[in-house]
Amino acid sequence: MRYYIEDLKNHVGQKVEIKGWVYNSRSSGKVKFLEVRDGTGIVPCIFFKGECTDEALVEFEKLSQESSVKVTGSVRKHPKHDNVFEIGAETLEIIGGSVDYPISPKEHGTDFLMENRHLWLRSKRQTAILRVRHEIISAIRDFFDGRGFTLTDAPIFTPSACEGTSNLFETKYFDESMYLSQSGQLYMEATAAALGKVYCFGPTFRAEKSKTRRHLIEFWMVEPEVAFNDMYDNMDLAESFVEYVVQRTLKNKAEELKVLERDISKLEPIKGKFPRLHYNEACEMIIKQNPEFKIGDDFGAPDETIVSSQFDKPVFVHHYPIAIKAFYMKEDPKDPGYAMGCDLLATEGYGEVIGGGQREDNLEILQRKIKEHDLREEDFRWYNDLRRYGSFPHSGFGLGLERTVTWICGLPHVRETSPFPRLYGRSYP
Ligand code: 4AD
Ligand code: MG
Repeated sequence: MRYYIEDLKNHVGQKVEIKGWVYNSRSSGKVKFLEVRDGTGIVPCIFFKGECTDEALVEFEKLSQESSVKVTGSVRKHPKHDNVFEIGAETLEIIGGSVDYPISPKEHGTDFLMENRHLWLRSKRQTAILRVRHEIISAIRDFFDGRGFTLTDAPIFTPSACEGTSNLFETKYFDESMYLSQSGQLYMEATAAALGKVYCFGPTFRAEKSKTRRHLIEFWMVEPEVAFNDMYDNMDLAESFVEYVVQRTLKNKAEELKVLERDISKLEPIKGKFPRLHYNEACEMIIKQNPEFKIGDDFGAPDETIVSSQFDKPVFVHHYPIAIKAFYMKEDPKDPGYAMGCDLLATEGYGEVIGGGQREDNLEILQRKIKEHDLREEDFRWYNDLRRYGSFPHSGFGLGLERTVTWICGLPHVRETSPFPRLYGRSYP
């Protein structure tokens, strides 16, 4: 019977069949070693003349890296190591050959690996990252599903901009011009009025013509929206959400984080209250180390690092100047000129992982903002209706999945967090 490698520990002494790919093979005298990986783990298979078939020894000589194989044999404990299992092999069958597999254990440049992303994914490090990504996705869903939120998917074809017009991805919708969604937020504001607590979780697009270690062209974003939450409730929600995601990943993906050599002592403190800074307080910190910075500007990546490096927890920055924020942000009546937005900066210089805040709920102000931002009033008829029929204070945020995976895995670049990343200058494979 066929077994997965991760389950072999429960079948010591039993005859099993496994199927997978050649990770490594070597011979030494009468013994031949074959390491097989099947996606659930890697197991050494030991071929001993006399214990395995003669055909197996013949086939063994034809193996090459990444050939797919079927091995039968019996499971036994490793003679020296606890919790390590091996197969005393009997038969070996090659299912699919592999000639000149391009990725060898030697170092390859990033461009080469990206060009071969479809194969690079088979490496130990890449599978560890994808498993962590999966855990983070499950944690995100469980957090909201367990707290009475309803998943309401937002459309990907959108007639208008949400996050400014400079990075819109234009496409065709039959004869009409359309854009790929930058954010599901505006639609969540409508579903929040129907269902109270909602979220969407799907792909979003930004045509950013820049090569940075944080920007993807296509990325996944989870966007909760809650009716009658103000920006402080919003920060409370974001705080317990991020704690849940980080702590659950630490608990369930310890092995993978070890493969990635993540210093988990940097993630363990991420619980409880996170520090909260007014934009002006953050500016004071920045100016001390970057005298070039001008109050009123948005933060660059180095500025975010100056702020976040002062804390061992993620830090909220709220009340950015309205001039540098999106049209939908509510201006604080108690702090004119400043928006009730709140971003969350990750620890260790990983940058902004959450953007969000309280939305403008006054129809007249919103209409003025739409004009000021050079947006077409016509496109926002439905959005303005939400202020016409029972307007309500409401808040929400968006967390970028890939930036969160980069941070939790401790990676130097966001590109390894997506199975097939879309970057400026790379859309293959
Ligand atoms: O700050 P952003 O642009 O906020 C919004 O889109 C809001 N409408 C969300 C909301 O309130 N519902 O994006 C939110 C997050 C960022 O903090 C970042 O984590 C991620 O999305 N993000 C990107 N991730 C990868 N590549 C990009 N180009 C990204 N742009 C934003
Ligand atoms: Mg932002």
